[in-house]
Amino acid sequence: MNTLHSDAFVFFGATGDLAYKKIFPSLEALIKRGNLDIPIIGVAREDWSVDQLRQRAHDSLEHSGGVDSDAFAKLSSLLQYIGGDYRDATTYERLKTALNGASCPLHYLAIPPIVFSIVLQGLGQSGCANSARVVVEKPFGRDLASAEALNATLHEVFPESAVFRIDHYLGKEAVQNLLYFRFANTFLEPIWNRNFVDNVQITQAENFGVQGRGAFYEEVGAIRDVVQNHLLQVIALLAMDAPAGRHHDALRSEKVQLFNALRPIDPSDVIRAQFHGYREEHGVSPNSQVETFAALRLYIDTWRWAGVPFYIRAGKCLPVTTTEVVVTLKRPPIEIFDTIEAAESNYFRFQLSPDVNISLCTQVKQPGEEMCGETVELNARHALEREQLPYERLLGDALRGDKSLFTSDESVEAAWRVVDPILNNPTPLTEYECGTWPVAAESMAAGVTGWHKPMAES
Ligand code: BG6
Repeated sequence: MNTLHSDAFVFFGATGDLAYKKIFPSLEALIKRGNLDIPIIGVAREDWSVDQLRQRAHDSLEHSGGVDSDAFAKLSSLLQYIGGDYRDATTYERLKTALNGASCPLHYLAIPPIVFSIVLQGLGQSGCANSARVVVEKPFGRDLASAEALNATLHEVFPESAVFRIDHYLGKEAVQNLLYFRFANTFLEPIWNRNFVDNVQITQAENFGVQGRGAFYEEVGAIRDVVQNHLLQVIALLAMDAPAGRHHDALRSEKVQLFNALRPIDPSDVIRAQFHGYREEHGVSPNSQVETFAALRLYIDTWRWAGVPFYIRAGKCLPVTTTEVVVTLKRPPIEIFDTIEAAESNYFRFQLSPDVNISLCTQVKQPGEEMCGETVELNARHALEREQLPYERLLGDALRGDKSLFTSDESVEAAWRVVDPILNNPTPLTEYECGTWPVAAESMAAGVTGWHKPMAES
């Protein structure tokens, strides 16, 4: 592994939405912690001056919660800007000059996938890719075939060891804690299997719509936007076996095994729905068949998980904004307390956002003569004050050459293989009203305990 710290940070798409919302705040945070003191070179098509880029960075920081004047002054002093067409060789010649002989630049492609290969070729032909690293944003392809093609294009210019595929969920503390909680405690492993687990549910709900990103969303839909990447990553962390050792390759290879064992999803295990009003969004077709909500049932064909259903539901314009996982255990083998009223099964609830909380639902006897119980949740709360922004964490790792939290070519392709049968609208779409759970999905989890009510909705 190349552990050199990168000595220049280049971001393509410097004038765009992602830079505004995520990259500038993360760069400022890295500077504040003393983790960034190298040239920062923005590249984009706009004919801007570096002062315009500085102003954009300032606006972005104001928008994201305030400007720290010292950190902003430092960021301004490190910033450079190159405006030019991505197809024009002179854009890369100017970039090469700006790199000024950097020995391990990091190129971040915060650009639409349609221009990935053009920029990759430009970097390769100009020599800017030599001994460099590249960070690639999601969506990584649109399906298995396009992801394979994209990997092939990437590998023409960068070896896999220099490629960092970003999934910001993996930069979240609460998501990393899934792995930590599982493998830093001994009590979980003996029950973390088909003998004790009844079903697993993952809810990723947002109570807002596409927020002006209609044209982007129209190309993806809920399955490509959050299921293929973020939520399958969450399943991998919940269900994989323990890595054999500490090296990041050990973790990545266990994840790939898990993705390979995930059964490609059958269209009969998917419900797709669209919120009323989506077709009136800017950039959306009036006949759009794109889902803004999906509910899915998945199976993992391993001895550990055979027969245990994993449910996902995810979407926009739902009653609540939250991401949480509920792992429900089987009932005790014999009920010996006849007076227990509606005893709930034990479950683990991992609330990943907005609050971070791990709880275990237990049954405890109520005081009194009767053997009558009540449900009590034991909670482990997690204070978030010291949390790094996911992009700060991931860009910092990429600058240091640490690939632990990035997805490999194999795992991204294996994840596409799981969802490939349900892409391109193979199942009919139903409609739901904003602020409600789609009725069509209700019956999907009826065979188990029904959908859990998210903590944030209680
Ligand atoms: C992004 C999706 O990857 O993840 C968005 O494109 C979604 O549609 C977002 O809203 C959710 O991430 P977070 O961190 O805001 O919960």
